[in-house]
Amino acid sequence: MDAHLQPFRDPLDENLPLVITGGDGCFVIDDTGKSYLDAAAALWCTSLGFSNERLIAAAERQYRSLPYYHSMMGRTSGRSEELAQVLTARLPGDLNHVFFASSGSEAVDSAIKLAHFYQNGRGNKTKKSIIARDGAYHGSGFLSAAATGFAYCHDGFDVPVGQVIRVTRPHFARFARDGESELAFSQRLADEIDAAIQEAGADNVCAMIGEPALGSGGSIPPPAGYWAAVQAVLRKHDVLLIADEIITGFGRTGEWFGSETYGIEPDLMTMAKQLTGSYFPMSAVAVSDRIVGDMNNFAHELGTLGHGFTYSGHPVGAAIALEALAIYEEMNLPAHVAQRSAWLAERLEAVAARPEVFEVRHVGLMVGVELHPIGDPVPDQVGRAGEAVKDAGLERGVIFRNISDTIAMSPPMIIERHEVDFMIDVLEQSLDAVFC
Ligand SMILES: Cc1ncc(COP(=O)(O)O)c(C=O)c1O
Repeated sequence: MDAHLQPFRDPLDENLPLVITGGDGCFVIDDTGKSYLDAAAALWCTSLGFSNERLIAAAERQYRSLPYYHSMMGRTSGRSEELAQVLTARLPGDLNHVFFASSGSEAVDSAIKLAHFYQNGRGNKTKKSIIARDGAYHGSGFLSAAATGFAYCHDGFDVPVGQVIRVTRPHFARFARDGESELAFSQRLADEIDAAIQEAGADNVCAMIGEPALGSGGSIPPPAGYWAAVQAVLRKHDVLLIADEIITGFGRTGEWFGSETYGIEPDLMTMAKQLTGSYFPMSAVAVSDRIVGDMNNFAHELGTLGHGFTYSGHPVGAAIALEALAIYEEMNLPAHVAQRSAWLAERLEAVAARPEVFEVRHVGLMVGVELHPIGDPVPDQVGRAGEAVKDAGLERGVIFRNISDTIAMSPPMIIERHEVDFMIDVLEQSLDAVFC
């Protein structure tokens, strides 16, 4: 048996994992010396690539001055204070307060706990259920795994799925009815949420969590009008909205935050990954002015905000995040992403026209190329086409992520034009190899 119990892998799988030992720009190198363009930025992570000297130097400076301090019980580090200021100044709307954690799952679990805490503080002691979408990924903690809309994250683990109200994933091309417009589809899905809240009783529903654009569900931007319609329903029932921006935060959808791209005004927002370019495991939960007062008063009444982690506000993570934010400002993140997004759009036109392609979805630097399933004689083998294209890409020097039959691309944001061309050339060659 392997010494390393790897996440999301069949432990009895006899295929050896791909072992990555180095990185340079958008490329990584395996233990045989072969290099690959990582079209997924690992896991939507390395916005600034795999060798950013400024992030490395910021880490080194911080390690030399203060390698660790906590943020509990009236102590904190200068760096985490500074990050709280800089980050909240950049966050949209009235998200003016921030709680730090290490992983995305911790951030989601924290956001849900804080939502419960807020509701309890207001005397809404029965508002417990969380609305989440099928095909959403919110992490592998306890509540975060329950909120995640994939059965393989629940099976065998006894996570509290009973606390989650599951609603339809907003994938227009798959779930729209014949002749239904995007707006009508969005309204139907909002009505579904409305009906689900009424069935559970608004007094029993705490919050909805959603990725502005679904990431691990297959890179699915929402249909027109979706978030406006959903937010109207949530407000009507006094149900909070948690925007899970762990993928979409920091430029991925073209604006600084997905909430800005889609006109979302969240009560809470989770972030991680690109916060530090993933050079340090750091995540954050932003809390809006609207809810922070009641939350803080309740904590004061109880004597403390009884939630936190040893590594909340780690100074090295904070120093790296501050440097990443400075780099993003200098890059003028939205304009930078818009340029690369346009290069991608040019090349994706030909991909979308291929007969084996069901749909190309694209916003900012998030792409999903969904393939028709393959199978002989009937196309019944969902996931096989995606797996085969991923393998063909690997042979040709590009790491694609396949989410079932969708090839998801989310390259580092520093990707250059010739690298976009290489990535899409290899995608086309891989499609040829599998389908022609
Ligand atoms: C939208 C979203 N939320 C939460 C998580 C969980 O983050 P982590 O794996 O850091 O716990 C992820 C991870 O991919 C994610 O994509």
